[in-house]
Amino acid sequence: MAILIRDLHDDDLDGILQLWELVRSTGPAPVYSLAEVIASCQKDHAVVAVEAGRVVGAAVGRAAHAQGWIVFFAVDRSHVETDIGSRLLSALERRMLPLGLAKLSVLLAEGDDLVDGFESAGFEPRQSLRYLERVIPVQRQELGVLQELGGRLLRRDLWGEVAGMRTEKALLEQRLVLPLAQPDLAAEFGVVPPRAVMLFGPPGTGKTTFARAVASRLGWPFVEVFPSRLAADERGLPAALRDTFLKVAELEHAVLFMDEVEEVASRRRGDPPSAMQGVTNELLKLIPEFRDQPGRLLICATNFIRALDGAFLRHGRFDYVIPIGLPDEDARRAIWERYIPGSVIGSIDLSRLVERSDGLTPADIEYAARAASQSALERALRDPDPAVGTLVTEDYLLALRGTRATVSAETAAEFFQDIEVLARL
Ligand SMILES: Nc1ncnc2c1ncn2[C@@H]1O[C@H](COP(=O)(O)OP(=O)(O)O)[C@@H](O)[C@H]1O
Ligand SMILES: [Mg+2]
Repeated sequence: MAILIRDLHDDDLDGILQLWELVRSTGPAPVYSLAEVIASCQKDHAVVAVEAGRVVGAAVGRAAHAQGWIVFFAVDRSHVETDIGSRLLSALERRMLPLGLAKLSVLLAEGDDLVDGFESAGFEPRQSLRYLERVIPVQRQELGVLQELGGRLLRRDLWGEVAGMRTEKALLEQRLVLPLAQPDLAAEFGVVPPRAVMLFGPPGTGKTTFARAVASRLGWPFVEVFPSRLAADERGLPAALRDTFLKVAELEHAVLFMDEVEEVASRRRGDPPSAMQGVTNELLKLIPEFRDQPGRLLICATNFIRALDGAFLRHGRFDYVIPIGLPDEDARRAIWERYIPGSVIGSIDLSRLVERSDGLTPADIEYAARAASQSALERALRDPDPAVGTLVTEDYLLALRGTRATVSAETAAEFFQDIEVLARL
């Protein structure tokens, strides 16, 4: 029976699908997914070998600037004569070379027996190359949902930018990041990945920073819920909240973050119940539903954990209730190092700054460091003598004197009580 080589028609796609299945089931996994191959068939360049109306071979290519890529090449060998491969290849080249390609490339799996065929058609193996790929955590069809939610993928390096806080970092790494990033490994050890966690601690200690860092570390999109914005929804806050949770369920992965959660879930009291009562109740229902879906993490944060509705913290809703406290010496040093310019840091008495900033939050230290930079800059502008213009330890000490600690002794004491009573690690 004669074999016809021709351009692909729309009704050949079924045949392509069958060929792709054949390749997948008989050899190493194809480099390009079926969806990509189909997309290329429709938008790029494809030729097929047809015998009695049946697709028995295909070659599909796409051009990327001056380089052409063969994204699919297959012959059903149970059916066809041997030179069909080279006829397909030259048909594809005839279609693509007029595009002005400088080269035509093909990626084959190790041990693929097509290698010989390509070599005899003039393709040269390139040595010492490795194929690497990263699956982007948000797929195209999810982008719309993510946009509606105001969520986004964060930079990959936020975790590394959290200075110090070694204990908290280790805890979050072990309890959250590891089991979520490697669910199969976790399952082997019977570890159930967490679905919801509560971070608590005085303002400015880094709860929001940590929530974002966890999302960045996981490579999952970060979606922040702002109850104050949802309240503007005409259906009412509880309905808007439910809608947000439902939309998040459409994403493959997500970190859902709710800051200052005490505002919507504080202790129920008063008769008649406050307007927030309905929201608290809705949230109490939403969290268990959220927990049923893998690949998602809810992070709530609060500055006033003792104000939360008791039902909120009862077992079954949050896997962990984690305190984020004031930075220790190492953390303060690391935070200072982050905000002092590299050009002067060698001449600054860091140990003194670390000692003098005991009791300050990262945010307070950031404030003091910026204030010192600002006043040194102003001094330099006033006095052109370069010796006067540099940042010195005294600038920082002066700025520290003008920095009020966010966390009072009383708040700090309450925080330690909260850790005793409410933390769950
Ligand atoms: N460990 C840290 N290292 C460096 N900067 C930090 C750290 N923790 C917090 N900050 C900075 O302090 C400020 C307040 O942190 P934030 O996460 O908003 O605190 P919270 O959410 O607990 O109120 C932010 O500007 C943040 O960048
Ligand atoms: Mg915050």
